[in-house]
Amino acid sequence: MRWRGDSIPELERPRGGAQKGNVTVPQTSPAPGWRATVVTLFPELFPGPLAASLAGDALKRGLWSLDTVALRDFGIGRHRQVDDTPAGGGAGMVLRADVVAAALDAARATAAEAPAIYLSPRGEPLTQALVRDFAATPGLILLAGRFEGLDQRVVEARALREVSIGDYVLSGGELAAMVLIDAVVRLLPGVVGKAASLAEESFEAGLLEYPHYTRPRDWEGRAVPEVLLSGDHKRIAEWRRAAAERLTRERRPDLWARQKKGAAGASRRSWAAEPPRQQRPWWHTDFRPACRTGD
Ligand code: ADE
Repeated sequence: MRWRGDSIPELERPRGGAQKGNVTVPQTSPAPGWRATVVTLFPELFPGPLAASLAGDALKRGLWSLDTVALRDFGIGRHRQVDDTPAGGGAGMVLRADVVAAALDAARATAAEAPAIYLSPRGEPLTQALVRDFAATPGLILLAGRFEGLDQRVVEARALREVSIGDYVLSGGELAAMVLIDAVVRLLPGVVGKAASLAEESFEAGLLEYPHYTRPRDWEGRAVPEVLLSGDHKRIAEWRRAAAERLTRERRPDLWARQKKGAAGASRRSWAAEPPRQQRPWWHTDFRPACRTGD
């Protein structure tokens, strides 16, 4: 099964799905715009909140597209089993490498150039710099995990890049995939009307964004800062910069330290410029044994 947009009938879907045996895979016709292909046990969760507001509007306008690949379609046997008990024992269930690989390969068939991401709390932290890199790709294949985890062999065999949306554990990767997609979509050309509003928002300059005010001028005894009403654009820019710096210093000493070291630019890793394996940071940990153990 693939997502068909039935939950939002007004949505004009640019592409359909094709039935192959019991498995429905995305059609092969190329879609315009950035393309998200989500591999999930719960395709019915999509597009969910992505059908509303900015992302939903952009979806209707064809600026991006969304496919789901249902993991269950690739399950084993009559019960379409996708998981099994962990090798070595322990609680919970682990998603099978063969099932996940088959689903990823089906997704890959129509998204040849898309990097494959596994949403996982163990992954590389999602930052605005990484979101920018993702927005520069033709699209992503996003694997949303469930259960206790995923067989490590498929992470390695399909070169999955693990990405976390924060230091907490969700019951699955679907919400994380939606967060990532939303963050990417708003950076796509034509999605946000005023490009300047993107340039000034939090993290773009390695700082949190300055505070905003609007009418009424006085509200519950609180006035809009006088400088913002002065019409003096230079003073306004200086005030905003100082406010952004103060907020960052007080709330995010980690960001502030990086900003001071001038490392904000260095954190803008390029997707193309992946460090070679032996120099890779911790999220590229290679668990492959040095040689086969012959199990
Ligand atoms: N799946 C479960 N928790 C997650 C997290 N924090 N980030 C990404 N995927 C997840």
